[in-house]
Amino acid sequence: MSSRNPILAGVMGWPIGHSRSPLIHGYWLKRHGIDGYYVPLSVKPQEAAEAIRALPKLGFAGANCTVPHKHAALAAADEVDALAGRIGAANTLVVRDGRIFATNTDAEGFLTNLKAGAGVALRLDRPAVVLGAGGAARAVVVALLDAGVPEIVLVNRTRDRAETLAAELGAGRIRVASWDDRNRALAGAGLLVNTTSMGMQGQPPLELDLADMPADAVVNDIVYAPLETGLLAAARARGNVAVDGLGMLLHQAVPGFEAWFGVRPEVTAELRQIIVRDLGET
Ligand code: ATR
Repeated sequence: MSSRNPILAGVMGWPIGHSRSPLIHGYWLKRHGIDGYYVPLSVKPQEAAEAIRALPKLGFAGANCTVPHKHAALAAADEVDALAGRIGAANTLVVRDGRIFATNTDAEGFLTNLKAGAGVALRLDRPAVVLGAGGAARAVVVALLDAGVPEIVLVNRTRDRAETLAAELGAGRIRVASWDDRNRALAGAGLLVNTTSMGMQGQPPLELDLADMPADAVVNDIVYAPLETGLLAAARARGNVAVDGLGMLLHQAVPGFEAWFGVRPEVTAELRQIIVRDLGET
């Protein structure tokens, strides 16, 4: 009789059925011939801490945590790295010697996607405009600050939320602008990132006039369903380089896979196509 000792990992969320992470990690497991599983874990918000604490006992090498468990992941871990602490959320948990380590790979995923998608067009030496001040915005802001942008202009419908984010993370490099001033805030920008849910399937469109934005600014939407959002289409129509959000999802998965399964996987065109096809079927 053969004995197997497959490596286990998964993604916790509520709901979890829409997550593409099992498809992404499943693709890499197959490609690298690894004896392992990456499973969707449907975990209710009130049971997140218990479920996370159970990971070592169940023999898991770790897990991703997605909405709404990214805060619970931070609180339930034995150790939190500096990056996850700054962002205030963890999306990747790694079990080592029975202890749970929490990190956040969203910032790295965002920046890697932006660099890959924009190439030489990417200008990080001019102000970046970030729309939104939720969880996704925190990862984007940390990534941009660490990448050295001189200033972030943070624009959110609820101004208080932007002020709080700026005070916590800004180190004097974040300027808050009012939602009503969002069109004017684009003047002089080298980069525009939408981290709000507007423009997503089933959500209202993002109403933004790009007329004041420089022609060489790069535009990135972290929304990836649809892949071509109204914002990206409008940016492309006036000649700006536009980068979609799917790559952020793909690239944030890389460090987790490496930590659990021991191989650094690649974000290939084939993988991207598989996810694009899957998005089209829903
Ligand atoms: P996430 O973790 O994905 O960032 P979130 O924390 O719920 O999700 O944040 C959603 C973001 O989209 C917020 O910046 C939110 O603005 P508020 O802070 O004012 O709520 C923004 N957003 C969602 N719907 C919006 C709308 N109709 N108009 C303007 N902003 C909107």
